[in-house]
Amino acid sequence: MSEPNENVSRRTTLRLLTGAVAATAATTGSRAPRAGAAQRHGRVDQLLARLTLDEKLSLLHGAKDPRSLGQAGYVPGVPRLGIPPLRLADGPAGVRLRTARATALPAPVMLAGAFDPALAREYGRVIGHEGRALGQDVLLSPMVNLIRTPCAGRNFETFAEDPLLSADLVAEEIRGIQGEGLIATVKHFALNNQEKDRTTVDVRVDEQALHENELRGFEAAVAAGAGAVMGAYNKVDGMHACENAGLLTGILRDRWGFDGWVMSDWDATHSAAPALTAGLDMEMPSGRWFGEPLHRAVRDGTVPETTVDRAVHRILTIMERFGLLDGTAPARPARDAQAGARVAYRVAVAGATLLRNHDATLPLAGPAALSLAVIGPTGALPFVGGGGSAHVVPDRAASPLETITARAGRDARVTYAPGEDLYGRPLPATTPRAPFEGRSVPAGRTWTYDGTFTADEADGFGEWTFLVHHSGERPRVLLDGTELFPVRDAMTELFDGFGLAATAPDGLKVRRATRAVTPGRHTLSVVAEGGARGQVVRLRRITAATRAADVADAVRAARAAHSVVLFAYEDAVEGRDRTTLALPGNQEALIGAVTAANPRTTVVLNTSSAVTMPWLERTGAVLQMYYPGQEGAAATAAVLFGDTDPGGRLTQTFPVSDSRHPTAGDPRRYPGSGGIEEYTEGVRTGYRWYDAEGVEPLFPFGHGLSYTTFAYAGLVVTPARGGGLTASFTVRNTGRRTGVTVPQLYVGPSPDLALDQAPRILAGYRRLELPPGRTRRVTVPIAARTLSCWDPARRTWALGTGTRTVRLGTSARDLRLTVRARVLPL
Ligand code: BGC
Repeated sequence: MSEPNENVSRRTTLRLLTGAVAATAATTGSRAPRAGAAQRHGRVDQLLARLTLDEKLSLLHGAKDPRSLGQAGYVPGVPRLGIPPLRLADGPAGVRLRTARATALPAPVMLAGAFDPALAREYGRVIGHEGRALGQDVLLSPMVNLIRTPCAGRNFETFAEDPLLSADLVAEEIRGIQGEGLIATVKHFALNNQEKDRTTVDVRVDEQALHENELRGFEAAVAAGAGAVMGAYNKVDGMHACENAGLLTGILRDRWGFDGWVMSDWDATHSAAPALTAGLDMEMPSGRWFGEPLHRAVRDGTVPETTVDRAVHRILTIMERFGLLDGTAPARPARDAQAGARVAYRVAVAGATLLRNHDATLPLAGPAALSLAVIGPTGALPFVGGGGSAHVVPDRAASPLETITARAGRDARVTYAPGEDLYGRPLPATTPRAPFEGRSVPAGRTWTYDGTFTADEADGFGEWTFLVHHSGERPRVLLDGTELFPVRDAMTELFDGFGLAATAPDGLKVRRATRAVTPGRHTLSVVAEGGARGQVVRLRRITAATRAADVADAVRAARAAHSVVLFAYEDAVEGRDRTTLALPGNQEALIGAVTAANPRTTVVLNTSSAVTMPWLERTGAVLQMYYPGQEGAAATAAVLFGDTDPGGRLTQTFPVSDSRHPTAGDPRRYPGSGGIEEYTEGVRTGYRWYDAEGVEPLFPFGHGLSYTTFAYAGLVVTPARGGGLTASFTVRNTGRRTGVTVPQLYVGPSPDLALDQAPRILAGYRRLELPPGRTRRVTVPIAARTLSCWDPARRTWALGTGTRTVRLGTSARDLRLTVRARVLPL
């Protein structure tokens, strides 16, 4: 490997991250040189020779797009030499443009629940096609950071807590995206496993755990030919990920042979020469460091121009490979919104995960399908995707109430009660009276109000939530002389603006503030600016009394119906972790009251990740629909009524409580202490931790029910060539409906390795759909890599030879068949 050069070696180069390239049969990363590579390099070399230093530097950082299509990033080209600009759009749940619609696909965590790499390829194809159609060149996706903590705010954007599944999916998705001519960017390299303190936290992880868990997906992405990698915000071993030579050069280039370019996450670059030298090729979204400061560094000799050339070469190489330099890229296609919608629907059905189904509450049939109460604010609102850079503007989106009503048909009675008020009720009468409901402030004018209102018994005292809805600049609202909605730092403001509850159904922005309100008179002052375009303002409140009234309405609706479908949500956004896994707001109380009134209640979860369910035993069924994309409501109705089997399985363990999961209870482990976070769980990520610690989960990794039943039999596992194993077994649909099953193979530790090993790891799986009565013999290969551990002493993979236990089951905890198999030395 090439050692990081002078600028970086001043710092402690990561011992644990670097290492000589070791050729083992278990290494997946080397790619055969592609035909025509020499010719392409020749073209790139010729271009490079003609670029001025200014032109070269302009290719190494983002800039303002003179003709923005609403995408996240832009890099101007060099028209003089026919180098076109690059437009970079966010993913990962579709192409995110602020100003254009696209297919809003289900969140990647839902795609992952299908345990189906072929579906991941189709998902990628939709994005690749649309990205090209929408004028984009680069997609800022997929995200493959592992789900390490259930609290992490972006768990919906990534795949799983298991490295094998993540690796399989990311590779296929990248093939899908790039097969359509869009350059994929795997992100965030590496260890960006949380949002809390994401720009400052310094992650420490041992080398074995790093290679076996977090890095495996990135390695698979590189092996699949990803054109770009995005460096992470966080630090790794004391060094910003975007200037970490161990990661960017030692592992990415020297070990895995990555030949694409590395861009920074947005504003995650912290230096010019050190970052470039360490292996960062492009600063995004601006040239704060790679503009003038880098120019200066080249001029004064701090960094040789050849290092600039290296970065330019990497970018041009990928542009060349995608036909962007010589006009051989296929013409931009037209969007195919219908094809996108079809895949969105298929993924939502395939990832729909039935967690509980007591007494065959689902599918809704007979009287249950004829008399239904739909409850929950998100029952009547389309919950499409999570908040932040992943938010796609959907082509269309129905609400579950619409699709359920349509599916139930004319003979059915479907009622609706929100049960919880997301947007508030009008304020009590004020003196002097003023219209706070949709007050419009003309352009260039200021509306000021000073008055009082009285809180009386009927409102219920204690906490009130005040809400301001507005279309322009946020009004100043003072309650008893104290500002209710003060403007905070830019990041907090940005993140507060994300998410479902941050926008009213009519598009006004919504901010909330909860205050203790005592009985009696209160003063209220408002200053609202009309700005350039005028604005509309509403002031609202939610009180103990309105909360109780909403729950009481829901209970009445639940009592009057045969069955209930209650929609519960958790509105995750980038930039913020959850501080509790409980459902937010009043939802636990709502579920408690509704299930007490009607036990035939199905709770449909639109959550980003695991939630705790103290109410579980009182429900009839629980269906996890995550953030299901624009066709999510149709998919939800189809699963509820049994038009299709719920195809999803959990790709993360759901804990029983906030205190019983892998990152609970030790701030050093999460979210970090004194700026440092240690992954002291070592290789025991996710279910591996629950197994090692003997902790009972609420729902294990891999869990998900079908409407039919399956039997597994005849497990045989034999050694395969190249150090792997081959498992075969028989699956039979023993029920009366066509359904989906996902048999999973878990392998125990090797007796021959003196390395840390989890009690068992997922080593193979297969998604199957079978008609009733049908039997199928299935063969699943288990790769040598999966049976290997990273040996930090030898800096290479060590095959876990000897007799190993192989178990077959439907989840990490429902293991039905066990055999012992010998892994032979290479
Ligand atoms: C996110 C990236 C995203 C970028 C551009 C950052 O805040 O971490 O995932 O691609 O913004 O929008």
